[in-house]
Amino acid sequence: MPAILTVANQKGGVGKTTTATCLAHGLALAGRRVLVVDADPQANATSGMGVEPVASSPAFAGGPLAGGIVETPWPGVWCVPAGLDLQRLAAQGLSSATLLRDRLASLGDDRFDAVLIDCPPSLGGLTQNALAAADRVLVPIQCEYYPLEGLVQLLGAVRHAARANPRLAVGGVLLTMFEPAADLAREVEQEVRTKLDEPVFTSVIPRDAAVAEAPSHCLSVIAYAPRSPGARGYVDLAQEVLERGLVT
Ligand SMILES: Nc1ncnc2c1ncn2[C@@H]1O[C@H](COP(=O)(O)OP(=O)(O)OP(=O)(O)O)[C@@H](O)[C@H]1O
Ligand SMILES: [Mg+2]
Repeated sequence: MPAILTVANQKGGVGKTTTATCLAHGLALAGRRVLVVDADPQANATSGMGVEPVASSPAFAGGPLAGGIVETPWPGVWCVPAGLDLQRLAAQGLSSATLLRDRLASLGDDRFDAVLIDCPPSLGGLTQNALAAADRVLVPIQCEYYPLEGLVQLLGAVRHAARANPRLAVGGVLLTMFEPAADLAREVEQEVRTKLDEPVFTSVIPRDAAVAEAPSHCLSVIAYAPRSPGARGYVDLAQEVLERGLVT
């Protein structure tokens, strides 16, 4: 089976979508075939990769998942786009927490090396489905506030999901939008690295305007500004994900 990594944090704007898409590109550049599943009604991952949202969400409704996979303009990266019905599906309550897991299982095991699932900023049914489907959860956190309280809630949701999905574990906490010159960022880093029992990635993603500009060109920062600090951060992260065996 491919490694299934869910990128989750109920806090908004912490870098989930950026991490799902840029890590996908970094892994693809390292020769892996990567599927990005957009499980967020905002469809930011879908549009950021230059893919049109579809009417009916292939990951949660509609026909067989294989028919809903779209090739992106990024070599080695495929996408299951978010559907325009995703918000409604989530609001009315998904019928089961294993819809996405079952659909991914129907893909077979040799088409992709990794599946990255981008979650909305909530711990609702879409995120629960993404956790039920995953081997590992990656948790981006922004270094501009004290994130540990929010993490307690997320880790509780991970533990809950792990009762039905014993494979599930935290793959790593990722510091994003890091500003080394800011005292607060260094304090947050110190706190996260010393107080958290969960693994924390050595790679850190710096705050970098190129990272924010890239999606409007339908590019990852690695393609948009290859020599930028943000691109280096995500290339390093992809390497670390491989070194840690989260993807083989
Ligand atoms: N390292 C970075 N440097 C500068 N800007 C960044 C960086 N990472 C992400 N951003 C920008 O910050 C905003 C939030 O990032 P992103 O969309 O990845 O977060 P998110 O957690 O997916 O948000 P949401 O919870 O709404 O889904 C975006 O405009 C993105 O381009
Ligand atoms: Mg997002």
